[in-house]
Amino acid sequence: MATRQNNAKPTAGKKAQAGEIRPAKGKLGVMIPGMGAVATTFVAGVEAVRRGLAQPIGSLTQWGTVRLGKRTDGRSPKIGELVPLAGLNDLVFTGWDIFEDDMYSAASKAGVLEKSLLDQIKPFLQSVKPRKAVFSHDYVRKLDGPNVKKGKNKMELAEQVREDIREFRKSSGAERLIVIWCGSTEIFLQPGSAHQSVQAFEKALVKNDESIAPSMIYAYAALSEGVPFANGAPNLTVDLPVMLELSRRNEAPICGKDFKTGQTLLKTILAPGFKARMLGLGGWFSTNILGNRDGEVLDDPGSFKTKEESKLGVLEHILQPKLYPELYGQLYHKVRINYYPPRGDNKEGWDNIDIFGWLGYPMQIKIDFLCRDSILAAPIVLDLVLFLDLAKRSSELRCRGIQEWLSFYFKSPMTVPGLYPEHDLFIQLMKLKNTLRYLRGEELITHLGLEYYD
Ligand SMILES: NC(=O)c1ccc[n+]([C@@H]2O[C@H](COP(=O)([O-])OP(=O)(O)OC[C@H]3O[C@@H](n4cnc5c(N)ncnc54)[C@H](O)[C@@H]3O)[C@@H](O)[C@H]2O)c1
Repeated sequence: MATRQNNAKPTAGKKAQAGEIRPAKGKLGVMIPGMGAVATTFVAGVEAVRRGLAQPIGSLTQWGTVRLGKRTDGRSPKIGELVPLAGLNDLVFTGWDIFEDDMYSAASKAGVLEKSLLDQIKPFLQSVKPRKAVFSHDYVRKLDGPNVKKGKNKMELAEQVREDIREFRKSSGAERLIVIWCGSTEIFLQPGSAHQSVQAFEKALVKNDESIAPSMIYAYAALSEGVPFANGAPNLTVDLPVMLELSRRNEAPICGKDFKTGQTLLKTILAPGFKARMLGLGGWFSTNILGNRDGEVLDDPGSFKTKEESKLGVLEHILQPKLYPELYGQLYHKVRINYYPPRGDNKEGWDNIDIFGWLGYPMQIKIDFLCRDSILAAPIVLDLVLFLDLAKRSSELRCRGIQEWLSFYFKSPMTVPGLYPEHDLFIQLMKLKNTLRYLRGEELITHLGLEYYD
C-alpha cells in the first residue's frame, strides 16, 4: 500500500491495483560512479532545490501530472500523488571517481553551474567525496587518474565495490539504494561468451577477462547486492544476459542506456512528426562541438564509436524504412562530435535535415541548438533515481529486469532480445504514464474517445 494520499477521485472503470507498492519510507541512497559534469549538476541541483534556491525544471517526477479516467472527469493528479515516490529531502549521495575532487571542486571544474550558486551549498558539496574507482585506461583512453582501486583480479575489485555499497548503506542509514552510472563513455565492446550467464561472468572476473569493462564491474556489484542500476552512458554495462539474469534473480531493476539529452531529444521529437505527416527524409546531418571532459573522452575513436552506435539507431527505429521505402529507404544519417575546448559544457549542435514533400519537392530545415548538456541530463538522473526506486518497491515491476517503461529517458533504450526499442518520445511518454496508471489499477488511456459521442 502506498503511504501518500491519492488525491484523485475513484472512477467507475478502476481495476484492482497491479500488485503491491511498498511505501517510500526512510532515506534513499544514490550511488554514482563518475562524479563529473552530469553527476555534480544533479546533486548540486537537488540541494539547491531543497534549500529553495532554484526550481527542478525539466523533471517529470516533480512537475508531471497523469490524467485519470475520462477527459470530462477532471482528474489529473501529480505523479507523486498517484504513486509513492521518495521526496527530495530523503536523498543522500555518494560516488566514485578516478579523481580525488569532492563534489564542490568537481562541480567547479565542470563549469556548468555558477560559482555563486555552488558557494551557497559549498559545505554540503564538499561532504560528498569520491570513493576509489574501478578503472582502467584501456577502456577510456583519454583519461587517467590517481583515485583507483587495486586488486589481484576483477573479482576482487567487484568485491570492493560490494563492500562500498554495504558500507554506504550502513553509514548513511539509507533504507534503499540506487546506483546510476554517470561515468565516462567506454570503448566500443560487443557481447561475448563471458557475458552470457552469471556463471561465465564470474569465471571471467577471476580470469581478468578483457571483455569485462569497469562499468560492468559496478553493475555486477550493485545487482549482486540487490540494488537497481541505471546506465547513463552508451556502454554495454547492463545490456547483457548476465546482468538481466542477476537483475531478475535479485529483484534489482535495470535500465539504460545513454541519457537522451540535446540533439537526440530533438530528433525523437521531430522525426515522429515528419513520419506522422508522411513527409520523406533524404538526409539528416548532425554535428556537435563541445569542450567538456565528455567531449575530450569522445575525441577518442573507441569511445566515439560507442556513442555513434547509440545515436544512429534512433531514426531507423522511428522511421521504419522497411515499411516506407519510398519515404525513408534512402535516408543518409550522419553524426559527428568534435572536441572544441572553448565551449566547455555549453555544446552547440547543428542539424541539417533534408526533407521532401508532395511530388517529391525538396525542403530543408536547419537547427542550431545552443544547448547545455548537463542541465538537460540532471533532471533525467533525478527521475530515474525516483522511478527505479519505485520499481524496486513495486511487486509488479521489480522482478521484470529491464524497465522498458523508462525508455523515455534514453537514446538507446534497453529491451529484451528480439524486441525493437520504442524511440518516439510521445509513445515513450504514453508508455510511462500508462505504466503508472496500470500500477494503480486505473484504466489505460487509449485516446479512442468514441464514448464522448454516444
Ligand atoms: N551530459 C549529457 O547530457 C549526457 C547525455 C548522455 C550521456 N551522457 C554520458 O554521461 C556520462 C557522464 O557525462 P559527463 O558530461 O558528466 O562527463 P564527465 O567527463 O564530466 O564525467 C565523467 C566522470 O566519470 C569519471 N570516470 C570515468 N571512468 C570512471 C570509472 N570507471 N569509475 C568512476 N569514475 C569514472 C571521470 O573521471 C569523470 O569525472 C558520459 O558517459 C556521457 O557520455 C551525458
